[in-house]
Amino acid sequence: MSLSIIILAAGKGTRMKSATTKVMHKLAGRALLEHVIDTATSLTPDSMAVVCGNGAEQLMPLLESRSILSAMQYEQLGTGHAVMQAVSVFEGSDQVLVLYGDVPLTQLSTLEALINSGDQQSLRILTTELADPAGYGRIVRNDAGEVICITEQKDADEQTLAIREVNSGIMVLPSKWLTHSLDKLSNNNAQGEYYLTDMVALAVEDGLAINTVCCDDNAEVAGVNTRQQLAELERHFQILQANTLMANGVTLSDPARLDVRGNLQTGIDVSVDINVIFEGSVTLADNVEIGANCIIKDSEIGEGSTILANSMIDSSTVAANVNIGPFARLRPGTVLADSAKIGNFVETKNANIGEGSKVNHLSYIGDTDMGKGVNIGAGTITCNYDGANKHRTTIGDNAFIGSDSQLIAPITVAQGATVGAGTTLRKDAPEEALTLTKSVQKTVSNWKRPVKTKK
Ligand code: UD1
Ligand code: MG
Repeated sequence: MSLSIIILAAGKGTRMKSATTKVMHKLAGRALLEHVIDTATSLTPDSMAVVCGNGAEQLMPLLESRSILSAMQYEQLGTGHAVMQAVSVFEGSDQVLVLYGDVPLTQLSTLEALINSGDQQSLRILTTELADPAGYGRIVRNDAGEVICITEQKDADEQTLAIREVNSGIMVLPSKWLTHSLDKLSNNNAQGEYYLTDMVALAVEDGLAINTVCCDDNAEVAGVNTRQQLAELERHFQILQANTLMANGVTLSDPARLDVRGNLQTGIDVSVDINVIFEGSVTLADNVEIGANCIIKDSEIGEGSTILANSMIDSSTVAANVNIGPFARLRPGTVLADSAKIGNFVETKNANIGEGSKVNHLSYIGDTDMGKGVNIGAGTITCNYDGANKHRTTIGDNAFIGSDSQLIAPITVAQGATVGAGTTLRKDAPEEALTLTKSVQKTVSNWKRPVKTKK
């Protein structure tokens, strides 16, 4: 059975009060529409398109990056009208799944259950039961319990309004039948729109089987219309992710104070303190400890490593038993070997730091290749930028750089070299020798401290 997917995303999202079109607002670091596209892609459809209208230009970079077709709906005349704009995408397939770009959390398994709930000639509707069904289309059944139509809130009478089973909007329809029957839709209703939901009554007339799958988790079918609903779904999604992490052997100090905006892989006995944000693709090996308020993006942290509070790590690779922080900033291209140590107020970038090397306090190490067992004193700066170009610093094994030194790149500190405290190194420092820039120390006796003048 071939499958097409049409994602409706032409609506305006007025209630978001935003210059960003609604489906491009982010949930867990991905646009709402991206969540829907990712789930839809997992169903490996034979064809797929997004119906765009309002803010279409904002959707294009995402659609182009995923090679997804768009169908333009220049005027938003209703969900049925939106589907009409994409007929050429699904008319050749057996069945078409309609999704909404602003309903981000529908699970793959739920969509699979919906698709498999009937044969390809049936109309299949994902429903849910709501304590407060206001605003939704109601699933209207006859005495035998068979679905006879969907009635929109604005077209419903008292009795219909009391129905708590609602239309999620997500449906599977037979493509050929839909292609021919869309012409029969009228906009003779309270909103003057062409409702996709009217296809249900038409299907009943044509004798099609109608199946429903009722989704227990309301969040899976919840749409985002306001920023408050967006925040609610974000928390819901984060708690689900936190639960999965804990089930996989991660200790979370507070599952309500964790944000995973991407893909987090974890080993066992990992512990994560409060207010930690993971972005992009992050891997934490066994026994990694992350302190409070850290932000870790697109990085790998090796077994037994500890990241102390308030550290930021971006696009870096950290080996085993490394200590980082508190207040450390690892910028892209930092590679730390086993047992390295990066202390407080240290910034690194494009730097390879060898096994057991230590940069403990207040330093900037950029564009650097550092060997093993190196000790970098407090306040050391690699001066990698001459105002036009970046240059590299090379520091050999077991070198010792005294505090408050500036290494003016390109430069090499050979293995075993010692650089005296307060040195501005402009020429290479040779092996196993002490190199320093000496300034003469003098003492002024009988010198008086200035005193504050009285006004
Ligand atoms: C729709 C359903 C309703 C269901 C509810 C679930 C219809 C007529 N009603 O109502 O039964 O309970 O969703 O949330 O289908 N869109 C377009 N073009 C349009 C109109 C809408 O692309 O011309 C898109 C919107 O961007 C959105 C989706 O379709 O992603 C739903 O549109 P919306 O206006 O929110 O429909 P509802 O009135 O909520
Ligand atoms: Mg809606």
